[in-house]
Amino acid sequence: AKIEILNGPNLNLLGQRQPEIYGHETLEDVGNACARLGQELGMQVRCRQSNHEGVLIDMIHDARGAAQGIIINPAAFTHTSVAILDALSAFEGPVIEVHISNIHKREAFRHHSYISARADALISGCGTQGYLLALQHMARLLG
Ligand code: DQA
Repeated sequence: AKIEILNGPNLNLLGQRQPEIYGHETLEDVGNACARLGQELGMQVRCRQSNHEGVLIDMIHDARGAAQGIIINPAAFTHTSVAILDALSAFEGPVIEVHISNIHKREAFRHHSYISARADALISGCGTQGYLLALQHMARLLG
């Protein structure tokens, strides 16, 4: 199975950005760890990032008919984007929403997610390990 891992704005700075919240691992480290676990689970994993809402929407459209599952950390767009929700609603396979931090332990404006209405599962507060947990769950959903 092909799995797309999509990351939203500022996650290109993972490892440098507020490491007390998001940790010291870079997005490249996360992508490599996901590719390794994907191999063990028989899944072909691609990890991508954009700072632009429309680019993320195009990536979701491209996954239609091409990938079997989407794991997405929409970052700040989680709390603002009906457009990303709608794009995910046009994707036929399982969607897992990941947040590195526990969004419910933070500012009130992070407590609501537009994406959760479409997500089959939500992982928040497990650090970058959350991406690996999401992949394991994705393997179960697709298996
Ligand atoms: C985040 C949480 C969001 O509130 C924030 O805007 C991010 C990252 C997380 O992974 O914890 O950029 O999605």
